[in-house]
Amino acid sequence: MTKRPTYVGYIAMSLDGFIATPDGSVEWLDPFNEAVATDGGDGGYGDFIAGIDALITGRTTHEQVLGWGWPYGDRANYVLTRQPGYTNDHVTAAGDIDTLKDAIAQAGHKKVWVMGGGKTQRAALDAGMFDELRVFVMPTILGGGRPLFSPGRQHNLTYVSSREHGGGMLQIDYANKD
Ligand SMILES: NC(=O)c1ccc[n+]([C@@H]2O[C@H](COP(=O)([O-])OP(=O)(O)OC[C@H]3O[C@@H](n4cnc5c(N)ncnc54)[C@H](OP(=O)(O)O)[C@@H]3O)[C@@H](O)[C@H]2O)c1
Repeated sequence: MTKRPTYVGYIAMSLDGFIATPDGSVEWLDPFNEAVATDGGDGGYGDFIAGIDALITGRTTHEQVLGWGWPYGDRANYVLTRQPGYTNDHVTAAGDIDTLKDAIAQAGHKKVWVMGGGKTQRAALDAGMFDELRVFVMPTILGGGRPLFSPGRQHNLTYVSSREHGGGMLQIDYANKD
């Protein structure tokens, strides 16, 4: 029998719950990332990404990150899309959330990062695919933009731990309660 992978979230949001500005930019994160780096850290990213063997990206986020040069090496990447036959660079499989879930199970991955964005986080959440969620809360109120989770039904989480990084960035770890 194929063992289910662990699905994890790892994402940064403003205090008012946005991950990007309305036009999809994440440049607002730059000063906070620089503050963490100045403090000598990486927010735990190096340790986190070392344990990841596959990603789920929404088609929007996927294409944005491709434009940056794809920093995830040859890790498998599953793209959420409603477009039939979607192909692009760094696409292991593409389709709806059930299609991705089945392809991931077949591939036998151990730890899968639900990278986002918010519509993808929502689809994965509703499909019961979050085991762990790490949110970085930035000390800013963005005022609007793309939400961490697009609107939908309520899910309860279990608080695990929290810690502060440089520049007032707060890391909060949750586990799934459903
Ligand atoms: N702050 C952070 O740490 C962080 C992390 C990740 C992403 N982001 C930001 O998040 C923004 C994008 O988030 P987003 O929510 O707008 O988009 P997204 O989740 O990246 O991708 C949305 C696309 O996914 C597909 N999709 C969504 N729900 C679906 C469903 N239920 N079934 C099948 N396909 C589905 C659709 O693709 P098609 O149109 O092809 O059908 C949709 O256009 C970007 O600006 C990115 O920079 C920020």
